Amino acid sequence: MSPRRTAHKFVPEPLSWCLDGRETDLLHYVFSRPDLEDLRGSPAKVLRAIDDYSEKYKYLMNIGPTKGENISGLIAANKPSVMIELGGYVGYSAIRFADAVRANGGKKYLSLEVNPEMAAISTILVELAGLRDFVRIMIGPSDESLVRLIRDEKKMSSVEFVFIDHWQELYLPDLQLLEGLDVLKPGVSTLVADNMRLSGSLDYQAWLRASPEEKREMNKTRVGRSKLKRKQPDSASGHWPGLGNPNLIYETSTKIFDLGSVQDGVEITKVVGEDSP
Ligand SMILES: C[S@@+](CC[C@H](N)C(=O)[O-])C[C@H]1O[C@@H](n2cnc3c(N)ncnc32)[C@H](O)[C@@H]1O
Repeated sequence: MSPRRTAHKFVPEPLSWCLDGRETDLLHYVFSRPDLEDLRGSPAKVLRAIDDYSEKYKYLMNIGPTKGENISGLIAANKPSVMIELGGYVGYSAIRFADAVRANGGKKYLSLEVNPEMAAISTILVELAGLRDFVRIMIGPSDESLVRLIRDEKKMSSVEFVFIDHWQELYLPDLQLLEGLDVLKPGVSTLVADNMRLSGSLDYQAWLRASPEEKREMNKTRVGRSKLKRKQPDSASGHWPGLGNPNLIYETSTKIFDLGSVQDGVEITKVVGEDSP
């Protein structure tokens, strides 16, 4: 989504399904509800209010209750102490999954969002749900925020649970960035990616399913993100972040959801080993 640059504005172009004012409209809807006082401090009630808006007024591209409840079940099974999401939008998934991480003994939820307007809306709704101290909203492109967190702030040596839900063409580059930063660990890391019905995520699924030999072959002909290639290789791992780590072995499957008029898939992936060529 390219920003529209005028003398005063750097605003992304509205699309037919988002960024046309509906997200601010959602805020006005929530804060003018007669039951507002009941919503304060209740993740479940704030989620219900967002779902009400999406069902009655305008569609919002959040994870929704069906897929959301399923992923909350995975969080309960894995009990991450820190969970990261790529793509926060208006804060729906942050509220739903941060609540699940907190209920399962976790410490922090990191929501990475590139659009400052969406991050502002998310901040307000996360606060309303009583999760302000638990959720950190990082504004900026996911790759830059991940590098900041992992390499610059040295906040984690492994990632436990990542929810990938930004734009599909970024799924594979960000997966390979995490591989290159050496934070995907066998027996520790779980990745959950939304929107598997969209063709933009096919390269992500293909990489997860390829053997280390196949991925080493693929890497001979591919180039990583150009801006990351300009950075130094990660000194700890020696990998170039943009080219990933073809030696990681994944166990992965797509869970299909029937969402009424459409079907969608969620890719659930565990890091299970590392090949030593
Ligand atoms: C499908 S929405 C996320 C929905 C949210 N996870 C939920 O379920 O409530 C995709 C979001 O990804 C954000 N996004 C797109 N590219 C991004 C990037 N490079 N880094 C971080 N966020 C990005 C968009 O601005 C948008 O808000």
